[in-house]
Amino acid sequence: MDLEIERLESRLAERWEEQISGVRFTGGKLFGKDAVLAVCGIGKTFAALCAEAMILRYAPDAVINTGVAGALDGELSVGDMAVGSAAVCHDMDTSPLGDPIGWISGLNTVRIPLDVPMSEELLDICERLGVRAKRGVIASGDQFVCENGRKREIRENFSAIACEMEGQAIAQVCFVNKTPCAILRCISDGAGGAMDYESFKKLAADNSAKVLCAYFENAR
Ligand code: ADE
Repeated sequence: MDLEIERLESRLAERWEEQISGVRFTGGKLFGKDAVLAVCGIGKTFAALCAEAMILRYAPDAVINTGVAGALDGELSVGDMAVGSAAVCHDMDTSPLGDPIGWISGLNTVRIPLDVPMSEELLDICERLGVRAKRGVIASGDQFVCENGRKREIRENFSAIACEMEGQAIAQVCFVNKTPCAILRCISDGAGGAMDYESFKKLAADNSAKVLCAYFENAR
């Protein structure tokens, strides 16, 4: 979100900027480390485009997708963090052909793994900052999920703890490019659905940017 990138961009030293396929990439030193930032836009297509451009153009050692998410797990409330253990695509469905729901043909898996050391570091940072966090499967799809039945379905199909609209696409692009990837999402909505989202998206986006700043500050 723009709000998150503002918080991070304001800390960039030696800042540069370039535009690729309509996405604005800003780079420089973030707490002394080379970093490139981008707002990928909404949905899996924009997210994949942004991740692929980022990897091909800047060859990052790792990619972190941050943002907000809806809670699927009863333990997660607005303001808590969800750190991905794996990413799934909840609206990929070739089950009429005999595949499991969410099957990524070609990669022949449902779950795209995420980087373990980065995810553990992100969880440690949350703990140090006193922010509640849970690690688990993040489910992405081109759908704002607020109906309880759909939430239950996604949770039951994938054992997912949170849902959003970009993480899996970014994880898939990173996976095929052998680039380590982590997903860090702050919960912006739970049972209150779209109403929660409108009230809390700013707070949630600010929280995830805060955790990411601390991560960069601590990174070697
Ligand atoms: N991003 C934040 N909340 C979401 C939700 N409930 N569904 C999809 N994407 C989201």
